[in-house]
Amino acid sequence: MYNIALLPGDGIGPEVMEEAKKILIAIGEKFDIEFNFKQGFVGGASIEIFGVPLSDETLNLVRNSDAVLFGAVGGPKWDNLKRELRPEQAILKLRKELGLFANLRPAIFYPSIADSSPLKNSIINGNLDLLIVRELTGGLYFGTPRGRENIGQTVRAFDTMVYTSDEIRRVARVAFEAARKRRKKVTSVDKANVLETSRLWREVVEEVGKEYPDVELSHMYVDNCAMQLVVNPGQFDVILTENTFGDILSDESAVLTGSIGMLPSASLGDKKPFLYEPCHGSAPDIAGKGIANPLACILSAAMMLEYSFDEREAAYCIRTAVEEALKKGYRTYDMKDGAKKVVTTQEMGDIIRDIILNI
Ligand code: IPM
Ligand code: MN
Repeated sequence: MYNIALLPGDGIGPEVMEEAKKILIAIGEKFDIEFNFKQGFVGGASIEIFGVPLSDETLNLVRNSDAVLFGAVGGPKWDNLKRELRPEQAILKLRKELGLFANLRPAIFYPSIADSSPLKNSIINGNLDLLIVRELTGGLYFGTPRGRENIGQTVRAFDTMVYTSDEIRRVARVAFEAARKRRKKVTSVDKANVLETSRLWREVVEEVGKEYPDVELSHMYVDNCAMQLVVNPGQFDVILTENTFGDILSDESAVLTGSIGMLPSASLGDKKPFLYEPCHGSAPDIAGKGIANPLACILSAAMMLEYSFDEREAAYCIRTAVEEALKKGYRTYDMKDGAKKVVTTQEMGDIIRDIILNI
């Protein structure tokens, strides 16, 4: 039996989570796997009840689980709180507390929704299948000192970008291991022409690369990478990069596949529980309307089955069902390709579930 902590959070988080749970229940039936779900509050939802974005109660729930499925946090209601109390602190604290230093974000192109992509078909050319390995517990997000101070009439604010060689090495290994199971190419993305942290990054990745002579390693500046992603995305297999660059490049990669509502993620560390979340965020503008795309959350559940439980067949089943639903022409509102079968969040979940139970 697997204990799963469900943390729906804010905005569209609860809506997409509901569908992912539905899919896990169907998978449980089909593959005879028992899931025990426990739900907790995070982000704004937690602020409303406990006054903090991540309570000890939720942290305990998470620590006692085998894996965590996370929805999204944040919304305009909490935008003016000071940093430590903002909903985003929930996910940042979870990543840090659980030691989830490697974030895997696969951007996969489904031919049936080619027209949803902002790129011309001639540029995608049928081959966009990349994995971003984003460092998740270092860099600007966590570096100290940080803060602001008044200097006379002027205000000075500062963050610190910091990396140790150990932090770089461990995430680099994750990227090389992942590349071994794929097309054996790692592009390490940095800003080594300007940043000291990037120069160390490049050195250490180069060193780790020597342990993987079967994997082709190249380096690219982040500005160039942002451009190459829209010019020739097919050149990438695994992109390895630090926290902030990975945050930015993963949104860009996501939308290339047709919609940001398609990108799942897995956050891994040295020990379980690992955490799985859609990359899209809380999307407050469409929350509560039943129109959110649940696929990123459903595909995150598939990543959980694969990385936390080694239930590969079950994970494959979910991915196939998603592909099938898209092939049959079902779309949520975010996939604007003129397809006629536009369905609600809930309907999309039902469609995927029915396909799973009938494959
Ligand atoms: C993401 C999100 C988070 C991040 C926010 C919500 C803190 O944008 O997972 O990409 O910046 O890491
Ligand atoms: Mn992001």
